[in-house]
Amino acid sequence: MIKFPDNFLWGAAASAPQTEGHSSSDGKSPTTWDEWFKLNPEKFNDGQGPQNTSNVYEMYKEDVANMPKVGMNSYRTSISWARLLPDGKNLNEEAVSFYRYYFQTMLDNNIEPIINLFHFDMPWWLMEKGGWENCDSVEAFAFYAKTAFEQFGDLVKTWSTFNEPLVHIECGYLYQFHYPAIVDFKKAVQVGYHTLMAHVCAVREFRNSNIDGKIGIILNVLPAYSRSDSEEDLKAKEAADLLNTYSFLDPTVLGVIPTKLVELLRDNNLTPDIQSTDKELIAQNTVDYIGLNYYQPRRVKAPSNSQHPAKMPSDLYESYDWPDKKINPYRGWEIYPEALYDVAIMMRDQYHNIPWFVSENGMGVADEQRFKGKDGMIDDQYRIDFMKEHLEYLHKGIEAGSNCFGYHVWTYVDCWSWLNGYRNRYGLFSVDLENHYKRTMKKSGLWFKELADNNGF
Ligand code: BG6
Repeated sequence: MIKFPDNFLWGAAASAPQTEGHSSSDGKSPTTWDEWFKLNPEKFNDGQGPQNTSNVYEMYKEDVANMPKVGMNSYRTSISWARLLPDGKNLNEEAVSFYRYYFQTMLDNNIEPIINLFHFDMPWWLMEKGGWENCDSVEAFAFYAKTAFEQFGDLVKTWSTFNEPLVHIECGYLYQFHYPAIVDFKKAVQVGYHTLMAHVCAVREFRNSNIDGKIGIILNVLPAYSRSDSEEDLKAKEAADLLNTYSFLDPTVLGVIPTKLVELLRDNNLTPDIQSTDKELIAQNTVDYIGLNYYQPRRVKAPSNSQHPAKMPSDLYESYDWPDKKINPYRGWEIYPEALYDVAIMMRDQYHNIPWFVSENGMGVADEQRFKGKDGMIDDQYRIDFMKEHLEYLHKGIEAGSNCFGYHVWTYVDCWSWLNGYRNRYGLFSVDLENHYKRTMKKSGLWFKELADNNGF
């Protein structure tokens, strides 16, 4: 039997915009998702917008009460910036009361709330001023963070600043899956830099506040594997890791931006505008822990036809189609559990074995109703197998000394997924959109309970 360390966190992750619903009511102001859906509804799967999502705003008591039934002892979700501070300055008392009840209900059910501040949901009032392109966004975010710590610091002891900062950078400014959906490498780097500084300033606010607890950041990790050991392929792998992995891990954990990344950006005319005090702020405000969302590796090779200076990341590294890959056909993502061991070792050896956890891992599958049994339960054995395989490699990493303190699955109750709407389902519970958002446990929920009860499998 595989046993995990004592007090291991077993739980799930989600976010405010993907679960709460009530997106344009109860005092909340619009985010880029609300506005983009108004502008371009055709971009969203089946016309499913951010309006109602999984209705947690009304159903949180039932949801939290169900968490122990699948063995969860912790849950990560986020606060909606546009709900808490609709104009960026003034508190929305309804939001304060909603979140206080929500978090208190978790505590009453012995669920540790892990609360994140930004999950791709840029308030529209700030987007109209340029969003993360505008350097004022840094202090606006720090003010929001400070407000959240003041309002909920007595209930929440584990905080994170951003979920997957790379995603709003690359999807918004390179690959067009998030608003403003433009293609501009230079702007992407500037947006990334302001995001990093917003994180750093939120950590500064946390350290200046008197609340106890810890603060971290949640990063998506796609460890790069090169096609071969040729010099060119290894150079591509290095560029991929510098831009995507070390770009946030190094400054947030070690307090420095990697010199090689600075050089790579300079060499490609991508250096962002910076303030003279930034270096010191980065050095002084490192995190207590890291959350890593792992779904798939990144296979890379040397670019076949690159431009210099680079116009896109593909001028520095190109995707490589590994012939032996195993794919989740619904999401199109490679399934490669072995990478979790490599990630664990990277955290041990490159990041002074800082405490970290798997903050998301999961499998999105379309049309899951096909697998519904007579009892109404979805038999998602594929998801159980997916989790087992990943946990085996994670466990190997822990045995080798990596300081991992938990595993969170994406997600708890099926939730809305950006442009993909409700196409791919990830939950331990299904949600019936035709029937008052009724939740029904899946077979994976039963398995997760056994896993958590035994602290292993
Ligand atoms: C993570 C995000 O990248 O993956 C979630 O933090 C997202 O917000 C999840 O929903 C699953 O990806 P997707 O695109 O299938 O929803």
